[in-house]
Amino acid sequence: MAEIGKDIARAKHLLENDDVVGIPTETVYGLAGNALSENAILKIYSVKNRPKFDPLIAHTNSLDKVKNMVRDVPEKAAQLAEAFWPGPLTILLNKKPEVPDLLTSGLDRVAVRIPNHPLTIELLTELEFPLAAPSANPFGYVSPTSAKHVNDQLGDQIQYILDGGQCHIGLESTIVGFEGDDVVIYRLGGTRVEAIEDVVGKVRIQVNESSNPAAPGMLKSHYSPGRKMIIGDIAENLKGMNSKSTGVLSFQTTHDVPEQNQVVLSPSGDMDEAARNIFAALRRMDQPHIEVILAEFVPQEGLGKAINDRLRRAAV
Ligand code: TXA
Ligand code: MG
Repeated sequence: MAEIGKDIARAKHLLENDDVVGIPTETVYGLAGNALSENAILKIYSVKNRPKFDPLIAHTNSLDKVKNMVRDVPEKAAQLAEAFWPGPLTILLNKKPEVPDLLTSGLDRVAVRIPNHPLTIELLTELEFPLAAPSANPFGYVSPTSAKHVNDQLGDQIQYILDGGQCHIGLESTIVGFEGDDVVIYRLGGTRVEAIEDVVGKVRIQVNESSNPAAPGMLKSHYSPGRKMIIGDIAENLKGMNSKSTGVLSFQTTHDVPEQNQVVLSPSGDMDEAARNIFAALRRMDQPHIEVILAEFVPQEGLGKAINDRLRRAAV
């Protein structure tokens, strides 16, 4: 198992030696390594068992450091950076040649983000290089929102996890890029579409739902808790099911199902709270006696869009 603690010097030392470290962010925990080192990047891909056609996000702590990685920062990107960084927004920008192709899977753009977590900001401030950090889960599995989640799955392969407590947002960053005059959202996430449109006007949502590895964004099947998942009216879908082997993710207690089989995402229907809880809830469904998971979509507003996106992918 990995060691869990708040020792920034230890994390820094490991990272400076091309090792990987679990780091907290406000969205989900990341599996971090030197974004400019091919050895460190290879280690990330290997620990996650992630195909190299799925590129990584580079994290840093200042716009100046972002500028070291990219050829230019278009006006709308600067406006988004100003409005949302540090925070749950990743921006795709044209990369400089010195950014390794391995980081971007050979694409011309690099994904960059300034995360909003005090421990990780401190770490990034002390480092001479940006950190590549995908979510710290095995490829295809649910993202981790606590140090324990990281340890449960990757603890045998990594030495250290910086403990920043439970993630405040609980969903990955929103990914945005530019195509001509269009602002395009490639992944729905912790920054609301509505908030982005307040800054740069109408956006195009182009959330990748294919398994086409050449296309940016996410694969169709993801966040899988390893169970069959059915999304729709819970009471209706529960009819005829064996409630003992059925898990339920909902907004209110379902009395016909054993308590340990259910998670109420937010009793008051608050989407921010539901977002914070959704990945831990999917993990809880990963119990041997649970065969089917029932869940329902939430209103397509605010973080509801991203929650529905994750549910849809978990159900594939
Ligand atoms: O909130 C987050 O973004 C978390 C935390 C740790 O920062 N990170 C995260 O990384 O979710 P990951 O690797 O699990 O998801 C990154 C997504 C992938 O779907 C990848 O395809 C896309 O970002 N991506 C990365 N670089 C890209 C690029 N150059 N062009 C297009 N898509 C890119
Ligand atoms: Mg991920």
